[in-house]
Amino acid sequence: MDELDQLERVCELYRKYTSDLGAVIEQQRAFREATRGRMTPQLDDLEAEITYLKLRELRPQTVMELGTFHGWSTTWLLSALRDNGTGHLHSFDKIHNVVRNVPSELVGDRWTFVAGDMRANLTKVPAAVDYLFVDADHGRRFGRWYLQNLFPLMRSGTPVSVHDVFRGRQARVWSEGAEVVTWLQRRQVPVFSASRRQAPAVFAQLNALRAELGIEGARGTLRNPMIFFSLP
Ligand SMILES: C[S@@+](CC[C@H](N)C(=O)[O-])C[C@H]1O[C@@H](n2cnc3c(N)ncnc32)[C@H](O)[C@@H]1O
Repeated sequence: MDELDQLERVCELYRKYTSDLGAVIEQQRAFREATRGRMTPQLDDLEAEITYLKLRELRPQTVMELGTFHGWSTTWLLSALRDNGTGHLHSFDKIHNVVRNVPSELVGDRWTFVAGDMRANLTKVPAAVDYLFVDADHGRRFGRWYLQNLFPLMRSGTPVSVHDVFRGRQARVWSEGAEVVTWLQRRQVPVFSASRRQAPAVFAQLNALRAELGIEGARGTLRNPMIFFSLP
């Protein structure tokens, strides 16, 4: 799918799940308020919303999250699985603040958290991941590590999102993002992004649609450097 098709698809999802998305945004605002001082959110609004919408449509059984930090992305991912009524999230992080932040009603029996360095925990990667979310160490070395060690554990066609790639018009040199973008380009894999700087037309069109649908973000943040693609 080229960028235009992907944008159209995302617009359809905004229309299809407007009401559920609005409820999750309200929930996430309340979550921020309740965890003030111990939860620093990272994902920006559009990329969090797109992640939620993709998970709603895909209805994955197994989702893997690499990099929870304090739980902002974790709660978005878990909300999609809750609203689907199915699916399990396996989250990995070196720090475990997330465990006390994620509300127990959202955890239910749908969450497994693995504490420790991902590089020492490859044996804990679930067998058949249906969606891979990556937001961890943004250095080049770590990017190279997971391209060589984590991606080969995934099936061809697995949807993936990687955060912090397009903060500017291009990925920063020597970064994880540059490694991933080069890897994808060599394999001619199309990439979707709602980055304000890298994909301004997509960013503008999605914001126009959100305004029409009455959707205001949970944070009000604009950068959205995440990229979305399917593994070759
Ligand atoms: C940018 S934060 C994640 C933010 C989170 N996704 C959110 O939306 O709020 C990056 C996280 O990756 C974790 N991390 C970095 N390197 C890691 C590694 N080698 N193994 C596991 N976790 C790692 C850090 O501890 C940190 O919590």
